[in-house]
Amino acid sequence: MPQTVLITGTGRPYALGFNLVKRYLEHGDRVLASIRRPSEALEALRAQYPDTLHVLTMDIASTASVNAAAEEAAQLTPAIDLIINNATTASADTMKELPDFDLDLIAPAVNVGAVGPIRVLKAFLPLLRASRMGALVVNISSEAGSIGRCYRTFYLDYGTEKAALNMLTMTMRNYFKNDPNLNILCLHPGWIRTNPGNNGAPLDPYEHAETLRLLFEEKRHDKEGPAFITYTGEAYPW
Ligand SMILES: NC(=O)c1ccc[n+]([C@@H]2O[C@H](COP(=O)([O-])OP(=O)(O)OC[C@H]3O[C@@H](n4cnc5c(N)ncnc54)[C@H](OP(=O)(O)O)[C@@H]3O)[C@@H](O)[C@H]2O)c1
Repeated sequence: MPQTVLITGTGRPYALGFNLVKRYLEHGDRVLASIRRPSEALEALRAQYPDTLHVLTMDIASTASVNAAAEEAAQLTPAIDLIINNATTASADTMKELPDFDLDLIAPAVNVGAVGPIRVLKAFLPLLRASRMGALVVNISSEAGSIGRCYRTFYLDYGTEKAALNMLTMTMRNYFKNDPNLNILCLHPGWIRTNPGNNGAPLDPYEHAETLRLLFEEKRHDKEGPAFITYTGEAYPW
């Protein structure tokens, strides 16, 4: 049965969000793809899938913007079956260590990378609750958000926002524990070639998007298994 999927941060053709959009469309699903600014690549995809791809403008740092996007989505679809909170941010100082890092950049990054996905969950909750197949929310986290495995002396913003996202995911998992129609988890997606700078990454974004699509179907109703997983489906240490 085709499903309706909302994916955030989908405007960059080489990145994970856009390739997830492509995979779901190819699979015959309906996709609500969110962006902050116009994307030529997404427009080309919309021309190819005029009936099943809807583009929403949404800044996940802004409650008003997320609420407006949720209202627009409710005009387009009666339900959402899957949300992939993929959008994230890192400041210009992300590779710097303490002496050179502007600490005032951490809170805005947490606002996007950790609070943003929960803003989306809250605003789109009525549509998730209307899912007939049982809705899943996947928060794309990172190994960089693992406190137990932390080895870096940089990523003060990115590591903190992903650790906070993991905490919020677990708190929401507890909150929805007795709701048979809603599941939530966070994922370390692996190291993917999502920007021209990380050509050394082993995973191709288009190929990997299909691995993740299949994994999410496996995990849709799994409320007892690990809440923070890798792309192989195994638990990742918090
Ligand atoms: N690539 C990897 O190897 C890797 C490893 C571990 C985890 N991850 C995680 O996987 C996900 C995808 O990674 P990626 O490398 O494909 O990401 P990316 O290229 O950095 O893309 C991030 C997306 O988030 C959007 N975004 C940023 N701030 C936003 C805001 N305030 N509101 C709405 N959208 C916003 C960006 O939009 P604009 O285009 O408008 O800037 C962009 O489309 C991320 O959550 C990342 O942390 C990736």
